[in-house]
Amino acid sequence: MQILWSGKFLPLACFAVFSIVNVSISAQVTTPASPSARPWMNKNLSPDERAELVLKQMTLEEKINLLHGTGMAHVPNWQTPLTYLSNGGAGMTLGVPRLGIPNIYMSDAAYGVRSSGENGRYSTALPSPVGAASSWSTEAACEYGGLIGRELRAQGYNMTLGGGVNLTREPRNGRTFEYMGEDPLLAGTLVGHRIKCEQAEHVIGDIKHYALNDQETGRNIVDVHMSKRAMQESDLLAFQIGIRIGNPGAVMCSYNRIDGDYACENKYLLTDVLKEEWNYKGFVVSDWGGTHSTQKASAAGLDNEQPMDQYFGPQLKEAVESGRVPMTEIDDHAHRILRSEFLSGIVDDPIQKSVVDVERGFEISQRIEEQSIVLLKNEKNILPLDQTGVHNVAIIGAHADVGMISGGGSAQVDPPGGNAIMPPGQGATHWQDHIWFPTSPLKALKEKLPGANFTFNTGDNATSAADLARKSDIAIVFASQWTSEGMDLPNLSLPNHQDGLIEQVAAANPRTIVVLETGTAVTMPWLNKVAAVVEAWYAGSRGHIALANVLTGTVNPSGKLAMTFPKSEQDLPRPVIAPLSKEDEGSGSSAVNGTARSTSNYSVHYDEGVKVGYKWYEAEHKQPLFPFGFGLSYTSYSYSGLTTDSTQKTVSFTVKNTGKRTGAEIAQIYAVLPQQAGEPFKRLVGWQRVDLSPGESKTISVTVDPQMLSIFDEQKNDWQLPPGRYRILAGPSSATTPLTGFFDLK
Ligand code: BGC
Repeated sequence: MQILWSGKFLPLACFAVFSIVNVSISAQVTTPASPSARPWMNKNLSPDERAELVLKQMTLEEKINLLHGTGMAHVPNWQTPLTYLSNGGAGMTLGVPRLGIPNIYMSDAAYGVRSSGENGRYSTALPSPVGAASSWSTEAACEYGGLIGRELRAQGYNMTLGGGVNLTREPRNGRTFEYMGEDPLLAGTLVGHRIKCEQAEHVIGDIKHYALNDQETGRNIVDVHMSKRAMQESDLLAFQIGIRIGNPGAVMCSYNRIDGDYACENKYLLTDVLKEEWNYKGFVVSDWGGTHSTQKASAAGLDNEQPMDQYFGPQLKEAVESGRVPMTEIDDHAHRILRSEFLSGIVDDPIQKSVVDVERGFEISQRIEEQSIVLLKNEKNILPLDQTGVHNVAIIGAHADVGMISGGGSAQVDPPGGNAIMPPGQGATHWQDHIWFPTSPLKALKEKLPGANFTFNTGDNATSAADLARKSDIAIVFASQWTSEGMDLPNLSLPNHQDGLIEQVAAANPRTIVVLETGTAVTMPWLNKVAAVVEAWYAGSRGHIALANVLTGTVNPSGKLAMTFPKSEQDLPRPVIAPLSKEDEGSGSSAVNGTARSTSNYSVHYDEGVKVGYKWYEAEHKQPLFPFGFGLSYTSYSYSGLTTDSTQKTVSFTVKNTGKRTGAEIAQIYAVLPQQAGEPFKRLVGWQRVDLSPGESKTISVTVDPQMLSIFDEQKNDWQLPPGRYRILAGPSSATTPLTGFFDLK
């Protein structure tokens, strides 16, 4: 029997045991012990020393409790008698109350704290991670993480799920918006700064999904193949950099298999690389339902099963008692979790719920979006909109009268008041609804241009939209693309005939500006016919104001693409994502499909290997629509005077603002390795975001990390810096590098 609660069915069994569980939990809580009775509370000891002291006091039962979840709120298949304690989050792991070790309360937080609505809370939505990555700003990444950390704690959580950093190897991946683009150095650096600042707020940080979970199609069954060298130099490198900078308490292993073994029981990934090569000291948490065994997963290096206890609960305890799993293995898992609790500060600084600082959240979200919007085209300087010269403006499409779209799945942040396109009172949001935030660009533009007349057309009828455009000075077409976890896009076309709408509007009025609200790249068959294109991504809680500031010139756009926009799917390494067989459909992408071992032979061979994104286009001599690192500004910049120092591996050059507006330029440095490295295409090795007033010059100096110049040698199982001449290139994007120099390495 089930009870309907908050729109979800919960098994009656949950309620029946509430009172019993309450008693046993509260009975465990003891009054605070004296400091000498709890030597691990001494903050002068290292997290490892503190963890070891606690571990010595723990029973096997208590250790096992640390190694698994207690169910997931709102998911009927994933409930235990303890789920009600989880604060409505995605998961919870019991602490050791008698020793002062708190429960770990986990919430998704890809672009803000998830599912606040269902629990009557409020969270700020930040711009999507792939959007925010377009700022190339480590400060913005830090603000991003800090905000999430504070809002998690305010809402009663002490662990975040995400920073996602899977590379954009497959731009149709429905989770592209949750990640940070296609380059390992950029993505790894930004996720690292995000995590560092998240953890500074005393929550356990998490990096996910480790690894090669680069498509959603068949994510629970797909077997991914790639050479070790390619893995190490691409997807794994992003994690390595992120972990080095952010030192997250947890790494979430992914759903997919790699070379036959599920990521969450893959010894190569979890032990050989993560824990040994990278010397990672935190814990590995499974993706939800991503655990498939007890002994194998434990031996491979999985430390915590979520959200249930199917393999790491009674079965693991029994495996220890019968000698099949050594106690040292359990101690290592438990030690890692305790260590992360001490390291992140959640033991010393217990959660105190409070009111989310809404105003501060708005400010941060807007500031990041203002740095993340990418101006892709601006013919005859149609933008910024002239405050005096614009009289009649047509606003067309994408519910621009009421809001802007957001990304779905476990990342979903709930908009205040519910889905802005639904009638009041019917605004409940669900996992895979298309959800609009109440951030109307029409309203924001009206405020910025009070002298102009605005007329809105839904865009449902292209002919009527074109009629309106014809009568207006300017037409702004808003185009949206909804993406979500659990699905991939069939192609990169704008859905719902929006290409046709744009074509017709542009034919009626060449002064057409297209604003994109997308989770990933889109193709633009109409590009030559429109005057301007602005990529606003999923823009967050103050996206409309940030966008209006950019369109009207209060803010000079500075974002640059963290991923390539291809001309056509034909130019991708795989023109289509291999479809699932009839038998595999249904087991492929849902998270809640149990943890059965798959016998499917659905696989993907990432033969392009290290050539992710711009590297692929360069190596294959394909012209993208917009290259990685590209973005325009309302001012212009010049580059000059590159010098290099091969010993220090330093690159210096000057960037000048040659236009009339203050701006921020993202100056990029690429290297092409010596021929014998076998990688005849450039790779990003550094960048700097630099603020410049009109006429101002600044000399940029970047020291390149030797690993960024190295290749992974599979024989030696280590990185090698090939001797020889490295071509060093600098410029405003991966496709435009006016400055050249060399490193000569012995
Ligand atoms: C997702 C994770 C998420 C987890 C908990 C899974 O479906 O892949 O990213 O953290 O659910 O919601």
